[in-house]
Amino acid sequence: MAFFEVKELTMYYRTLRGQVKAVDGVSFAIEKGKALGIAGESGCGKSSMATTLLRLLPNNGQIMGGQVLMDGQSLLDMPEEQFRRRIRWKRISMIFQGAMNALNPVHRVGHQIMEAILTHEDVSPTEARRRAEDLLNMVGINPKRFDDFPHEFSGGMKQRVVIAMALACNPDLVIADEPTTALDVIVQAQVLKAIDDLRQRLGLSMIMITHDLSVIAQMCDDVAIMYAGRIVEHGSAVDVYSQPLHPYTAGLVRAFPNIAAGRSTIRSIPGSPPNLIDPPTGCRFHPRCPLADGRCRAEEPAFQVVAGRHAVACHKADVLAGGVDIWQQRQLA
Ligand SMILES: Nc1ncnc2c1ncn2[C@@H]1O[C@H](COP(=O)(O)OP(=O)(O)OP(=O)(O)O)[C@@H](O)[C@H]1O
Ligand code: SF4
Ligand SMILES: [Mg+2]
Repeated sequence: MAFFEVKELTMYYRTLRGQVKAVDGVSFAIEKGKALGIAGESGCGKSSMATTLLRLLPNNGQIMGGQVLMDGQSLLDMPEEQFRRRIRWKRISMIFQGAMNALNPVHRVGHQIMEAILTHEDVSPTEARRRAEDLLNMVGINPKRFDDFPHEFSGGMKQRVVIAMALACNPDLVIADEPTTALDVIVQAQVLKAIDDLRQRLGLSMIMITHDLSVIAQMCDDVAIMYAGRIVEHGSAVDVYSQPLHPYTAGLVRAFPNIAAGRSTIRSIPGSPPNLIDPPTGCRFHPRCPLADGRCRAEEPAFQVVAGRHAVACHKADVLAGGVDIWQQRQLA
């Protein structure tokens, strides 16, 4: 049994134009201390999936089905009060997309970390302060800056504070949603290193959501590729990157800048992800896929294990397994 398991998780948003099928039958598992990267284009449902796991949905978001299990314990049917007291922040915490801008501008940074501890744990203010100072230290900020205000911190430092807050209650699983996208590349690398070091030191499990495939390659054991509310490929990062079996993954890998190969080889995938109120029939990727045929338009491909942990949802995974560069062929056609 894996430490954390998600089975057929489905979450829709109600809107005036219809239901947005943002998370539609997502399944994956994470072993203790391992990191899973989740990648996919904008609007594919990555953040929606993350907030569903923490049960922090807006009013129009509704969990339609599926299971989330932690150490075998079912989390979705747990009463909210119990989930809030025992799970959210204490066992599963999250670094939100753009969170550094959400620090309260009129509260001192150290106090915001202390507050996170005092809200969730029954400890004295003195103990909370000591832990908040330790956390600042851990994320590479001198605890002497405890009484500074957020505007006195750089973007990278604010992001480190947000990371410290996510670690405040010693969680087992941290979900990081684009934790460094607002930062410049040098600071991004420093913050990612801080996260990675802490993860290894504390034995944390992690879900790292990012557009940046190289971040996943550096930091994650496994990768899941998400498209239009579903996971289309999953496996060890090494297997998936070296031998993508889904045309979408192959397109993302190919679209990713490679310094050695130069700019001329960068090609984005033509088209854009579908509207999730009325996604395409059959395989949701078919309108953009160079291999699409009648079966793809009519029949949804099942998610199948190909070898070891490597699994894919595509009727024609064997074409890519045969080493054909379908995106190059499309370009030549
Ligand atoms: N509160 C909401 N109400 C209705 N639809 C929403 C809401 N939040 C998100 N969506 C829709 O759900 C889909 C998935 O959005 P989500 O933010 O999860 O994507 P994402 O993969 O995290 O994208 P990005 O990479 O840009 O952060 C999109 O179609 C989005 O428009
Ligand atoms: S199922 Fe068909 S349309 Fe979908 S990715 Fe595979 S080949 Fe392309
Ligand atoms: Mg997002």
